[in-house]
Amino acid sequence: MTDLYAVIGNPVAQTKSPRIHAEFARQLGQDLRYEAILAPRDGFAAAVAEFRVAGGRGLNVTAPFKLEAFALATERTDRAEQAGAVNTLKFDGASVLGDNTDGAGLVRDIQDRLGFPIRGRRVLIMGAGGASRGVALPLLHEQPASITIANRTVEKAWALERRFAPFGPVDGGDYARLAGRQFDLVINATSASLAGELPPLPAGVFAPGSFACDMVYGNEPTCFLAYARDHGAAQVADGLGMLLAQAAESFLLWRGVLPDTGPLIKMLRSG
Ligand code: ATR
Repeated sequence: MTDLYAVIGNPVAQTKSPRIHAEFARQLGQDLRYEAILAPRDGFAAAVAEFRVAGGRGLNVTAPFKLEAFALATERTDRAEQAGAVNTLKFDGASVLGDNTDGAGLVRDIQDRLGFPIRGRRVLIMGAGGASRGVALPLLHEQPASITIANRTVEKAWALERRFAPFGPVDGGDYARLAGRQFDLVINATSASLAGELPPLPAGVFAPGSFACDMVYGNEPTCFLAYARDHGAAQVADGLGMLLAQAAESFLLWRGVLPDTGPLIKMLRSG
């Protein structure tokens, strides 16, 4: 029987997930169907229950339901626990496993597809919201020299420092504190690019040979990536590869095989 999966969100019209998973399934010869479910804002749990009755095996969860998915899971992976949000659910009998594949996707895209090893590097994460919280633990697992979290609202950076310091060398603060420091990997986990804005980075943070990545993507390079190129970053990447890689991690959780995201990057860029 064809296995059923879906992405659930509100809105979901813009989602690329059905196309991505259909392509993964074709690539790996997997017999599955993948749909998009528009759930009412107050109807997440009911929509999930209905999907399970219909035989659904797993869901990708997008805004605004990642916290509700976290609460609904009967078991959670460590990375979901630390991210405080769930973007992937796997149904197995009565059990509902909640996972968060965003950080693993970012790490895999940077290291495996783009060839930039994280071990021993000085990492700067800009932003201290959900995106930042979701990537911190998977980045720490790669044993960077340090992770610095910078945020406009400094209290949020300190809160993430307290949360993640038990797992490795993490420090948090405001942007002014970055003056005179250099980083090998600079990750923009703020939503600033969506508004065409740039976080207030002091000059000189990009170390020679550094890599800049923006978790946002679009048809044009984001203003952060343009800035990074002009200010010394050797390599830049937007969030499309990460989007595909987090989808691939979900596919791995459900199906036990990891799709190759490379061919899809070209396909999605060309529209
Ligand atoms: P997400 O779930 O995408 O992380 P969020 O939780 O709303 O979204 O967090 C957005 C992050 O982007 C925050 O860290 C925010 O900084 P503040 O906490 O100081 O608000 C950051 N952000 C948004 N616009 C920004 C800008 N123009 N410059 C710098 N940081 C910005």
